[in-house]
Amino acid sequence: MRQLKPNIYEVGAIDWDRRLFDELIPLPDGTSYNAYLVKGSEKTALLDTVDPTKSEVLIGNLVSAGVNKLDYIVSHHAEQDHSGTIPDILTLYPNAKIVTNPKCKAMLIDLLNIEEDKFITVDDGQALSLGDKTLQFIYIPWVHWPETLGTYLQEDRIFFPCDFFGSHLAASSLFVDDEPRVYEAAKRYYAEIMMPFRMPIQKNLEKIKDLQIDLIAPSHGPIYDKPEFIINAYKDWVSDAVKNEVVLAYVSMHGSTRKMVEHFVNALIERGISVRQFNLTVTDIGELAMALVDAATLVLGSPTVLTGAHPKVAYAAILTNALRPKTKFASIIGSYGWGDRMVEQLTGLVPNLKVEIIEPVVAKGYPEDEDFVALDRLADQILIKHRELKIMD
Ligand code: FEO
Repeated sequence: MRQLKPNIYEVGAIDWDRRLFDELIPLPDGTSYNAYLVKGSEKTALLDTVDPTKSEVLIGNLVSAGVNKLDYIVSHHAEQDHSGTIPDILTLYPNAKIVTNPKCKAMLIDLLNIEEDKFITVDDGQALSLGDKTLQFIYIPWVHWPETLGTYLQEDRIFFPCDFFGSHLAASSLFVDDEPRVYEAAKRYYAEIMMPFRMPIQKNLEKIKDLQIDLIAPSHGPIYDKPEFIINAYKDWVSDAVKNEVVLAYVSMHGSTRKMVEHFVNALIERGISVRQFNLTVTDIGELAMALVDAATLVLGSPTVLTGAHPKVAYAAILTNALRPKTKFASIIGSYGWGDRMVEQLTGLVPNLKVEIIEPVVAKGYPEDEDFVALDRLADQILIKHRELKIMD
């Protein structure tokens, strides 16, 4: 249990050892499930709970904080890493009411089988007095589920946005004490979880811009005591601006595609274009997602397996399609032996991307001179496109 400001505590749990979230997202730095206790002069509120695996930590912290009576459990988000311990807290404090919006209420009933009479629903902008402290609820939908809610603690100027602005980072410091490290973790978090909701995030940033905020206290990772640090980072990530960068994600089985990748990467570098190359057999997909936050162009490299794309490249395409980066251009390079539906299959896997497809380059067997010429032509096309965007020095 750690104090943010007088009578406001972080009572959640650090999960140093977790290495996978949603059985999908790598967590190289662990994570935390932040829950906040706000003691007003008349009422006490708990803002979110923790993942059920850490229920005992939260309960221990509440006991240590001397919480004999809990009036409200504010639920900002129905995903179980924040809501999953609500049933345990209700067992401990049976008179507590869950405060949330109608959408989140419906989801909590579905996910956790909580009885309807346990809830108080609030409107966007509504305030709830704890005596000398006032919680104001702000709807911030789609960060990253439709029901997501934030709370602004008016007297202490703290914004509690739940997942929004968070980072999967287990850290002993309550506040950001290493900005480059937190920036990386927050960008990874944005890329993996928030990026599909770039447009709603733009609206939410606009919605909170007039709040006087001293602290942003998210539900994962350190608290921001310089709110502009993370707000400015988000403004950059969700903007339409892209960087002079090609993300090249590939697999090669017998060296043909690798040879093409090597040639193509050199051709891009010679033209002054930055490249991030990812061998998908060993890549942490979080690193790939982070690179896609800014890159102007994505190129997939694949051999042909049973007439289609290598499954690991297909996986990268499906993931990219789900994450919806703001990438402007895309292409495909690779090779085939006898069947050549690889390009058709991969382009069909990315319908969500608003990209212009630049003509792919596919070699039959090991690449020959004409294939290298075609790769140079592809690099030229990317150069022209990046120049048109005015993103080159
Ligand atoms: Fe941290 Fe969407 O849960």
